[in-house]
Amino acid sequence: MSGFILETQNLSRHFGALMAVDDVTLSFERGLVHAVLGPNGAGKTTLINLLSGEILPSSGSIRFKDYDITSLPANEVSHLGIGRSFQKTNIFPNFTCFENCRLAAQSRMKGVFHFFKPALSYKRINELAEKGLEMCGLTKRRDTLAQAMSYGEQRQLEIGMMLATEPELLLLDEPLAGMGAEESLKVIELLRKLAKEHTLILIEHDMDAVFAVADRLAVMVNGRLLETGTVAEVRASKAVQEAYLGSDEEGH
Ligand SMILES: Nc1ncnc2c1ncn2[C@@H]1O[C@H](COP(=O)(O)OP(=O)(O)OP(=O)(O)O)[C@@H](O)[C@H]1O
Ligand SMILES: [Mg+2]
Repeated sequence: MSGFILETQNLSRHFGALMAVDDVTLSFERGLVHAVLGPNGAGKTTLINLLSGEILPSSGSIRFKDYDITSLPANEVSHLGIGRSFQKTNIFPNFTCFENCRLAAQSRMKGVFHFFKPALSYKRINELAEKGLEMCGLTKRRDTLAQAMSYGEQRQLEIGMMLATEPELLLLDEPLAGMGAEESLKVIELLRKLAKEHTLILIEHDMDAVFAVADRLAVMVNGRLLETGTVAEVRASKAVQEAYLGSDEEGH
């Protein structure tokens, strides 16, 4: 099996005249933490939305393991083992942490694969929910309503919900957005832990966090892929310094 768990070929998506993702060919190596960087509007979230099946590409293709997932809807992509979190929190505020994780685990049952595989049992769904809670570090908050928790804990819960679907590949859209320093450190620690058993694709603006967890970087500008490589390679790239990191570092 190839060392790449996910690959895109000439992937594009336009909204009217705007090319939000423009001819992106990109490979993600299994077992590593990949960060996607780029200024606001670069197309990072659109790329994640394409990979997770939230939206369909205008052209190009996406392969996950041995599957061509280019045209699959989100629930089928999730079933194959790709989990995602959203840039904006996506939890049910009036439900407890356990109930939120349970709903996430249950969501895996839907879709066409449902007809080929036996539906998950009640017991199995509860186990998956408990496992998601444990892995995201919220077992103590099991019966707390999501709305009663801090913003950082809510983001943590969202990761727990994703884990309750037992994904192999995690897509995380700005998991640290809006968090204080202490909460961020907690989530960075969690990402490090998850990286031991999963492949991660992470969008993140916080450069310290990116450099702390990422093995590989991909930089996007105006929908296009500007550079890929190791942290050192991308930091040394003239094109990236001019387009992105340079302007960021000047501010310090
Ligand atoms: N559903 C949509 N309809 C129309 N335009 C869209 C849609 N989604 C995204 N866009 C546009 O596509 C471009 C890329 O947006 P995207 O959200 O992918 O950027 P991003 O890199 O995630 O930015 P940010 O860092 O601000 O989250 C932007 O110009 C955005 O306005
Ligand atoms: Mg975004």
